[in-house]
Amino acid sequence: MMIEKSGSIRLREIPLPQGTTPEQQELAQGMVRVNHLYRSALKVAVTQMEILDEEFASLYDHSPIHHIEYRIKTLDSIIKKLQRDGHEITIDNIYAHVNDVAGIRVICNYLDDIFYLRSLLTRTESFKVIREVDYITQPKESGYRSLHLIIDVPIVISEGTLHLPVEVQLRTIAMDMWASLEHELRYKSDRDFNEEETARLRLCSDTIYEVDREMQNIYQGKSPEYAE
Ligand code: GTP
Ligand code: MG
Repeated sequence: MMIEKSGSIRLREIPLPQGTTPEQQELAQGMVRVNHLYRSALKVAVTQMEILDEEFASLYDHSPIHHIEYRIKTLDSIIKKLQRDGHEITIDNIYAHVNDVAGIRVICNYLDDIFYLRSLLTRTESFKVIREVDYITQPKESGYRSLHLIIDVPIVISEGTLHLPVEVQLRTIAMDMWASLEHELRYKSDRDFNEEETARLRLCSDTIYEVDREMQNIYQGKSPEYAE
């Protein structure tokens, strides 16, 4: 079995069942590479976020980031996504069509922290924003709120510099609470919400948004804001 080497990192040897076709073999080896490359992009992006957070904390005595979560999409989910979008399961199609293989969730303390971090990320010449969707001011039908960015992350590997997309979801602790529970309700209990439940979930999201804005006002010593 072929073992690929990249720098000093020894890639995992994958045991394949007997009767594996050369195409399947190639796909499996390609996946090992995909995994390694996107893991590297993830590390670079997470480290950059932490650097900005620590710098801000040391300058202003306030950490914009509450915590960071990150993950590499499982092979299963990658395949499901390619199939859902009508693409053939190939390594090239992963690079071309799946832009959330590497995903980072940045959970911020206050609303303004999100937009502050976002402005810093675009200011640095290292990351380009490929796509941005503001689900904070314009939430999804479900009530889901977060700021979504796809950033282009350069990584230096033995062959040179490679650019990979990384999905960044920026949200407050409160938005994260809503998203986690709604996800839990929707997927874990495999439930379809009726109209009334959908409306109640949306109302929860709006209430949470008001709380976020009011906490921001209190933090900044501003007077309360009333719903527009
Ligand atoms: P995908 O191709 O499915 O990733 O869609 P997309 O690229 O248009 O991304 P979208 O902006 O819909 O965001 C996808 C990600 O955002 C999901 O993987 C979730 O993490 C999160 N998300 C989007 N909508 C919801 C929602 O209604 N509820 C929750 N809990 N999370 C959501
Ligand atoms: Mg996505």
